[in-house]
Amino acid sequence: MKNYDLIVIGGGPMGLATAYQASLRGKKTLVLEQFGFLNNQGSSAGASRQFRLQYAEKYMAELALASQDFWSQLQRYSQHTLVERCGSLWFGDPKLSSQEGGIEAAENVMKTLNIPFRKLSAANIEKEFSFKDLPPTYTGFFQPDGGIINLKATEEVLYNQCLASGLVDLFAWQKVTGLNNDVENEILVSTECEEYQCSKLAITTGPYVNNVMEKLDLKVPIDIWQMSSAYFKKTDPNLYLPTWFVFQEQQSTSLFYGFPEVDWSHPGYLRVATDFPDHGIIKNPSQRSLAPSSKSLALDSQWVNQHMQGLEATPHFTSTCLIALSEDPAKELLLDYLPKEKTNNKNIVVYSAGWAGKFIPILGDMINQMLYEDITEFNYRGYQIALKNFSINWK
Ligand code: BEZ
Repeated sequence: MKNYDLIVIGGGPMGLATAYQASLRGKKTLVLEQFGFLNNQGSSAGASRQFRLQYAEKYMAELALASQDFWSQLQRYSQHTLVERCGSLWFGDPKLSSQEGGIEAAENVMKTLNIPFRKLSAANIEKEFSFKDLPPTYTGFFQPDGGIINLKATEEVLYNQCLASGLVDLFAWQKVTGLNNDVENEILVSTECEEYQCSKLAITTGPYVNNVMEKLDLKVPIDIWQMSSAYFKKTDPNLYLPTWFVFQEQQSTSLFYGFPEVDWSHPGYLRVATDFPDHGIIKNPSQRSLAPSSKSLALDSQWVNQHMQGLEATPHFTSTCLIALSEDPAKELLLDYLPKEKTNNKNIVVYSAGWAGKFIPILGDMINQMLYEDITEFNYRGYQIALKNFSINWK
């Protein structure tokens, strides 16, 4: 049987970041991925994510601030810009809040933490950023440190750094079929091909988390849904936008967000996405449809036609991605040890849900700190961020 210090189940960006950070600690690590690496089957599907510092919760903004040090560290190993700092524009109904945040609450946190931002009226937003016909009651802000994450370049650099360390084995197409945690410090992980042993285990399978947790008679309370994106061709060559997010409550399906044009994904097109379940909430990724719903695409086109300029009216390309969010909307990210009554509880860490693209590199460190330092809070840049903020209400 092959023996490792750490086994990571789930080879998406969080799993790769965990393995990379473990390699920096000199740990012999195995990553088991049920599909191929860099796949589009989970939460990391697609080419880009938004980076932002603004959060409605102070501890999340602190984590975002601290994550920048980890992005800078990783950037040294990539020839691509991992986070393009084009700024982040939030606008809409200032009183609304959602699992993505809320304008007023985020402004208050930015003031407390001295994060710079510029307040904008609906008229300013139309003038500066070429949106049109916004309700005059809308307000917003521009935060210059926000930006766009090159997701595939991020995964690639983590993958390559794992390989370059000489300490990490990366095994694709190895679905976990069994877990045995009965003996303290001797966790057994089986796949169809092999059995492995480790003293520490990280489970980073995103929306697939409960397929693994059922082997330990546990369930993480998450909602899973498919989100769709549409790419609209630019008709105005001078159109340039930061990353943006609009909070509105005209219908139940009312959140949209978008990205600037980037040279690494559909150059000449702008991505606009609907931030709501495409085909409703599902409980298992196998129930996903893969194709975007015509309703989402129609709402996307409607928003673009009503409120944007310099784009064609109908999208040319589409993509979808799986979203896993905590069932409890107060929880932004789910990251915890196994419950106390389980053997090896402090040797097994589970990360699953949340809008977490911007935390990829720091999450790898957080998971390692939990496994190797038995902590109750993270200390970054002098901010104390309690682990209980991310605790899982196990089912
Ligand atoms: C976020 O920044 O967390 C986010 C951005 C777009 C869609 C959903 C979430």
